[in-house]
Amino acid sequence: MSSEEIATIIPALFEETEINGMTLRNRIVRSATWEGLATTEGACTDQLVAFISRLAEGDIGLIISSFTYVLPGGRGLPKMSGFDRDDYVPGYRKMTDAVHARGGKIALQLMHAGAQTRMKWIEGHSPLAPSAVEDRTYRTVPREMTIGEIEEIIEAFGQTARRGAEAGFDAIELHGAHGYLLNQFLSPYTNRRTDRYGGSLANRSRFISEVYHRVRETVGPEFPILMKINCHDFVDGGATLDDWLYLAQRLSEMNIDALEISGGTPASGKFGPNRTGVGTMKKQAYFLPQAREFRRVVDVPLVLVGGVRSPERMEQILAKGTVDYFSMSRPFVREPHLVKRWQGGDLSKAKCISCNLCFRTSLEETGLTCAYEQKLAAKRKGARVR
Ligand SMILES: Cc1cc2nc3c(=O)[nH]c(=O)nc-3n(C[C@H](O)[C@H](O)[C@H](O)COP(=O)(O)O)c2cc1C
Repeated sequence: MSSEEIATIIPALFEETEINGMTLRNRIVRSATWEGLATTEGACTDQLVAFISRLAEGDIGLIISSFTYVLPGGRGLPKMSGFDRDDYVPGYRKMTDAVHARGGKIALQLMHAGAQTRMKWIEGHSPLAPSAVEDRTYRTVPREMTIGEIEEIIEAFGQTARRGAEAGFDAIELHGAHGYLLNQFLSPYTNRRTDRYGGSLANRSRFISEVYHRVRETVGPEFPILMKINCHDFVDGGATLDDWLYLAQRLSEMNIDALEISGGTPASGKFGPNRTGVGTMKKQAYFLPQAREFRRVVDVPLVLVGGVRSPERMEQILAKGTVDYFSMSRPFVREPHLVKRWQGGDLSKAKCISCNLCFRTSLEETGLTCAYEQKLAAKRKGARVR
């Protein structure tokens, strides 16, 4: 099938669009995915550049980098990216150059883990959070942030965004979801503060708004800023759909350029961000019902993540106008050139079986790979040997 023929079947998915001046070659996004390929101090490596280059060769509209800490005390996993130093700019520049040379665009995802970390990953730093509430998954007991520490972290987001722009990233995405620090401020479970950063929904949203403002100040009005948010935390006492809708409205008023709709935290069990069993058309795009609620209240581009697997389903959703972009994480681990495959005429759904075995591979020397594919390959080899 020619690309013209594909375009008549799925016209909207592969059309060119723009987000605050950033032209995207199609509506498909690589959702941020920790690769475990940075140095232990967070610097970009040749291995990481090669990994991202392979993705860019696959014609993805927008690649979102793996989560990148703004301060070493905010590290959430080993060998994750960090961009807390100016001398890292040339290293990350290699990554953005590689993407641009392949006609793609890349956003830098900024995060601070708050209490969702382990002491061994933040050696020399105290785990910080809005309140001293033990994390339900990591069992880390953080220290309540002082106002001075809140201001320091807000500034670190601003400075890291500046470094990102200097390194050639096309956009910034703030990681507001999945239970990390920004989410911890919004959630009444993790935020028990009684000052202006806690209590009312307006107060619990304040830290996120101030981070956004500082980043906007440093990159300017013409630089795209996206935020990944939850639609619901799906944990007892966590932030609800109404809380997140309220935040989305405030961000929209502050001219956020796009919102990526996710959901859950590591403590959400089967309602977490990367769910299993999404094989059927019906089970795909598991945050779609909530995305409809966001569409009702905000008029900003929406990116839907979570179990998105087939162009046919995406086209149906686009036709209804519920969201504007689709982002995928695990499918690109198995098929970095998935978009190219679809554009080449093979429109069958992503081969990813959403088993989550890829998570563990980011801890290994090789970095992120499809462990299921490796298992299959080993089986095939074994069969030949016998
Ligand atoms: C190995 C792995 C690493 C991930 N790392 C990140 C990350 O760095 N930042 C983030 O926002 N989400 C991260 N996620 C979540 C994904 O971006 C995405 O929200 C989730 O996997 C659902 O999309 P999918 O069904 O297409 O995989 C990660 C997921 C996986 C499987």
